[in-house]
Amino acid sequence: MRAREIETGRPVSAAELKQEGVFWQSLPFDEADYQPILENVKRDGGYIHQDIIELRPDTPDLETICAKFDDEHLHDEDEVRFILEGEGIFDIRSSDDRWIRVEVEQGDLIIVPAKRYHRFELTDLKTIRCVRLFQDASGWVPHYRRRAS
Ligand code: LAC
Ligand code: NI
Repeated sequence: MRAREIETGRPVSAAELKQEGVFWQSLPFDEADYQPILENVKRDGGYIHQDIIELRPDTPDLETICAKFDDEHLHDEDEVRFILEGEGIFDIRSSDDRWIRVEVEQGDLIIVPAKRYHRFELTDLKTIRCVRLFQDASGWVPHYRRRAS
């Protein structure tokens, strides 16, 4: 994980992310090792659904899928992602509305809190495989801050 303030380039530590309500932790990425840890995360956070999402350069409609997330949005529940493979870029608003860019890679667990504006994009690898945890899959819908025209 690497994080920085977009406007100034200033590096942002995991401790500062935590102050901003964004949780990050590095986990082992063997299933036998990470699943017991995720079970604790699920219990503590009330996340009851778990699935895996995978995006690759040859994923059908990759552009359409990515276009849903690269526009600033929030959710009514936490966004929990554990990266198994590949890379991704989360831009997350600080509590005073600055952009913090968080680049995640294999082994990174990130929790973007409910109601916090963010956006997501792939890196040039165009590859990510990650575990998602949900409190309520049906409630997990993006609410856009402003719609790109
Ligand atoms: C999402 C992320 C990618 O909403 O922001 O799934
Ligand atoms: Ni989101």
